[in-house]
Amino acid sequence: MRLLTLPCALLALASQTQCSTIPHRQRDIPNPGQHTMRGNISAIASWTYAALAYATISTTNTTELSYLCANAAPLSSRYLSAFPETSGDVSKFAREAICNAARTPPSPSPLWYMKSYLAAAFTAQSYYGDRLNTTYYAQLCWFVESSLLAGVWVPCADTQESGVDAEGSFCASAGYYDKGDYSWYTNATQTGEVVGEAGGLVSRVMARVVGVVLGSERQREWVCGNLGRFAEGLGRIGLKREVVEEEVCGRGKGVVEVQKARGELLSAMTDLFAFQLLKGGSDRGYPKFLCEGLKKDGLAQVGLDGARVVESACNAASHGQQ
Ligand SMILES: *[C@@H]1O[C@H](CO)[C@@H](O)[C@H](O)[C@H]1NC(C)=O
Ligand SMILES: *[C@@H]1O[C@H](CO)[C@@H](O)[C@H](O)[C@H]1NC(C)=O
Ligand SMILES: *[C@@H]1O[C@H](CO)[C@@H](O)[C@H](O)[C@H]1NC(C)=O
Ligand SMILES: *[C@@H]1O[C@H](CO)[C@@H](O)[C@H](O)[C@H]1NC(C)=O
Repeated sequence: MRLLTLPCALLALASQTQCSTIPHRQRDIPNPGQHTMRGNISAIASWTYAALAYATISTTNTTELSYLCANAAPLSSRYLSAFPETSGDVSKFAREAICNAARTPPSPSPLWYMKSYLAAAFTAQSYYGDRLNTTYYAQLCWFVESSLLAGVWVPCADTQESGVDAEGSFCASAGYYDKGDYSWYTNATQTGEVVGEAGGLVSRVMARVVGVVLGSERQREWVCGNLGRFAEGLGRIGLKREVVEEEVCGRGKGVVEVQKARGELLSAMTDLFAFQLLKGGSDRGYPKFLCEGLKKDGLAQVGLDGARVVESACNAASHGQQ
């Protein structure tokens, strides 16, 4: 499988776990942070861009993919200036995905890859909620349910919807193979309403990645003029054309200055992350745990508006919602 150089290295511990089985084994993992903490803001930016690449692959034909592959460097230049990384290239996964797909359609599906990258971003962001605190990881392991995460674009590896195992990696980071017999699994799933809302939030993140990338009015006009052609493909993978339309092509919209576009992207990522994290567990005490346990400065290290994430958890806690 091609994904997986980075997310799998990142989540290598988790690959030994199965999120819907319950092995009652424990083990010691020395310095969990050193194994799992490699998802910094550059990596997250890279995975998010790769997710857009796979969304693109699912809606465009081989001729267009060949064009995008040949022009990957100039098309990525604004993204690179928004997320400069001295030690690597944040557009690498996206470029390779497009160029490979121009030759052979990806297997598993583009959506499988897209979800894997988004799940890797979610997992890395979650660690920063209280980095290196194994009690926090153990609590996430306990509260979060893979059956709920699946409905908010954080699917579990063993449902074969993705190559990443968010829930299992929290457990592994806390020193457990899995939840173990001190806990239980629910098989709760998300309502259609939540799934729809998650699709809207993911669409907004993807649209804002596009907003970072588009550097000229001509490029923007091309995207907006061709959106109709992509609509069916976007709908098929659960994305919303109207969100992209409103974000990129709406009245008064134009090319956005790159740092401003970066800020808008991180803001949309904050909303998506807060939603995914809160909806990932259904225990009554979960929002209160997040409200009290999340460190806003930690989340800010991965570009998120930590105060806003904490605030939404505290609001949910005080309203008795999940
Ligand atoms: C691919 O899409 C382009 C439109 O951008 C179209 O002109 C071309 O005919 C399509 N090619 C194939 C092989 O479908
Ligand atoms: C992100 O992590 C990579 C790999 O560990 C490291 O080389 C790079 O310097 C980090 N970048 C930032 C911006 O922290
Ligand atoms: C979920 O669990 C309940 C109780 O164990 C069971 O009755 C139900 O069939 C399960 N639902 C699914 C979709 O597996
Ligand atoms: C670690 O996390 C737990 C659970 O959120 C919290 O009660 C505790 O204060 C945290 N420890 C530190 C050192 O912040």
